Amino acid sequence: MEISKLDQVLNALSACVIFIDQNRKITFANEAAQQRFGEDIVDESLVRIVRNPEFLAAIDRINAGDNEAEVELTIGATPSATFEVKLHALGEGLAKGAKIAITFEDVSQIRDAQLMRSEFVANVSHELRSPLTALAGFIETLRGPAKDDGEARQRFLALMENEAARMKRLIDDLLSLSKLQGKERIRPSGEVDVVQLLDHVIATLLPVAEKERKTIQVANNCKDTLIVGDHDELIQVFHNIVENAVKYGALDSVVDVSIDLSQNIGAVDGPAVVISVSDEGQGIQAEDIPRLTERFYRADKSRSRIKGGTGLGLAIVKHILNRHRGRLEIDSKLGEGSTFQIILPTGRKIAR
Ligand SMILES: Nc1ncnc2c1ncn2[C@@H]1O[C@H](COP(=O)(O)OP(=O)(O)OP(=O)(O)O)[C@@H](O)[C@H]1O
Ligand SMILES: [Mg+2]
Repeated sequence: MEISKLDQVLNALSACVIFIDQNRKITFANEAAQQRFGEDIVDESLVRIVRNPEFLAAIDRINAGDNEAEVELTIGATPSATFEVKLHALGEGLAKGAKIAITFEDVSQIRDAQLMRSEFVANVSHELRSPLTALAGFIETLRGPAKDDGEARQRFLALMENEAARMKRLIDDLLSLSKLQGKERIRPSGEVDVVQLLDHVIATLLPVAEKERKTIQVANNCKDTLIVGDHDELIQVFHNIVENAVKYGALDSVVDVSIDLSQNIGAVDGPAVVISVSDEGQGIQAEDIPRLTERFYRADKSRSRIKGGTGLGLAIVKHILNRHRGRLEIDSKLGEGSTFQIILPTGRKIAR
């Protein structure tokens, strides 16, 4: 079959283009439309593909004399796709009596991003509101009932300090995330020694470990642990993963940290240093695992909040590891504990 010049041009477009006649019968569908809606849709009724009443009303308006119309359509069940649909009246004399040109532009990704942004703003507001409400409450009490009670004042001030610290942590984490997003495509260029960084992180976490009654054990099985990476960012990664193991592990248990070298890990380029952090905690349900790196996602909401968590730690870890072309693997058994593996390409040739 000969393909006309117009068809060739329309086939080159990524948007779906469909022409219909007076009776809503499809007279032409470009390749994108055929891929999306089916190869045999020409000569079919468009109503078979899209039943949306708003859309059909727009067709009626064009048939009644309007020149153009626009509607937004969501088609299909999960995953559904959202299209910005434009309808244009066509002049006389087109093949097979085509009367209306319809273009479908897939705007699903844009709509998803908009939804994510508004959910994010809602989450941030919610997270900030609770400490703020608590602070306002304490101020009121200090002005009123506890005005002349020195002991209560000290207690409330300590609680207020906690709430303020929580707000500061949240804002610091948010700033960290936004900075990371800005430079995700730029590879880090520094050189760091993984063992040194871990030692530093573990030393700063010792007071927390003591409070939470955990012992941290480190086993280094690598000779050379120098990698190409960003010092401060990797500290954030190790800090959050070891801190999580300490926070969410069982009382009087051990957190095991091991450092190994691996030559061959799928999806990671070249040799990699693998840092495994295992705890003997309550574990994480399988369905929660893929969602842990989402911002504000907490598997155990009350526990995380009690421990002062913002729920942003693993989202930050994921961004940093992406920038380092590394990966995070999570393995967990309910009631037994979890292992978080940080896989970092060394970025250089390394001796075993
Ligand atoms: N070792 C672990 N054992 C059990 N659950 C964990 C462990 N590590 C993380 N989680 C779960 O994953 C959630 C997300 O962790 P993440 O580090 O992002 O947030 P957080 O620790 O709550 O807060 P933040 O790290 O910002 O202080 C936690 O709230 C917790 O429910
Ligand atoms: Mg954390």
